[in-house]
Amino acid sequence: MRISLIGFGNVGRDFAKLLIRRGVDDCVVAIMASKGGVLRRDCMKARDLSRYIENGIYGESMDMGLDDIIDAGIDAAIISIPPSYDTGEPNLSMYRKLLSSGVSVVTSDKTGLALDFAGLMAAAVKGDANIEYRATVMAGTPAIDLVRGLWGREVNSIKATLNATTNFVLTKIEEGLSRKDAVELAIREKLAEPDPRIDLDGWDAGAKLVILANQLGLNATLRDVKLSRFDADDERIRQAIKAGRRVKQVAVADMDSREMAVTLMEVDASSPLASVSGNYNAIEIRIGGDTVSLRGPAGPSARTAEVMLADLLRLKRAIH
Ligand SMILES: NC(=O)c1ccc[n+]([C@@H]2O[C@H](COP(=O)([O-])OP(=O)(O)OC[C@H]3O[C@@H](n4cnc5c(N)ncnc54)[C@H](OP(=O)(O)O)[C@@H]3O)[C@@H](O)[C@H]2O)c1
Repeated sequence: MRISLIGFGNVGRDFAKLLIRRGVDDCVVAIMASKGGVLRRDCMKARDLSRYIENGIYGESMDMGLDDIIDAGIDAAIISIPPSYDTGEPNLSMYRKLLSSGVSVVTSDKTGLALDFAGLMAAAVKGDANIEYRATVMAGTPAIDLVRGLWGREVNSIKATLNATTNFVLTKIEEGLSRKDAVELAIREKLAEPDPRIDLDGWDAGAKLVILANQLGLNATLRDVKLSRFDADDERIRQAIKAGRRVKQVAVADMDSREMAVTLMEVDASSPLASVSGNYNAIEIRIGGDTVSLRGPAGPSARTAEVMLADLLRLKRAIH
């Protein structure tokens, strides 16, 4: 397969490392980041990839864009660019162009699916391409596979803690840090997105919730999710623990009323949603009076890259 990496930060580089370590023989034609890219129609060698992982691509990069990559003839784009929930751009246009040009996509970026799930699926069908995205929600734990497996069943609701940064900040506040210090620590430890509101005000969790709800045919977008600002009172968070509860950022999709929200709420300390800290996430699905739950790691980038490689292998199986 001829592939291009779009985005060459933590996840993109870890993906390139995996291609080398696992001896995957796909032809990497191009690597593109925000300020240019490198293009080799005759495929990059493992030693080229190693050099780019080590030094970045900018020493050799040229001014190039998506059209150049598509013109070079690729079967799939591996996308790991930052989210852009305000306008959706340039992410949305990138997905639409690739899919409608017949280029399949493997992505860890949630933007396109969160803002126009139905449109991207339609573009994929029209372009005879595929889009694989198991790395977008709880990468490392097969959350999307689980929810997909419930398609056609009478699911009542999905409730989930889906954002590692908020988990981290809330845990630090429980331990005695002020909200301001806890957020600053999350930024210093590079846990938070550069704009921490994406995590704290629920954009990230809302985007993941939308992707999950679409697995069950809800046809929703991030604009349908009611997001609440991270306005927790430090003392309330600490008091909740004494009462056997924890304050968590919970994403809820009520499948009957079609209402979706991300909000800070108290949950019983013994519940799966409360049991996760840091990079761990959890989902509870109410179905027919019972609860199905799943708990596991989300990132870090190496695990996310591994899931993307599994998606690429799946794509190859579907095509050949
Ligand atoms: N890190 C994780 O564990 C993890 C887990 C699950 C999902 N994700 C998602 O995966 C994506 C990538 O995460 P990351 O940690 O790898 O981010 P990152 O380290 O910030 O890397 C982002 C890369 O995208 C490039 N880029 C930005 N805008 C671009 C554009 N318009 N066209 C082409 N390239 C562009 C950046 O270029 P420059 O180098 O020039 O800035 C950089 O190479 C994000 O959407 C994130 O939410 C990450």
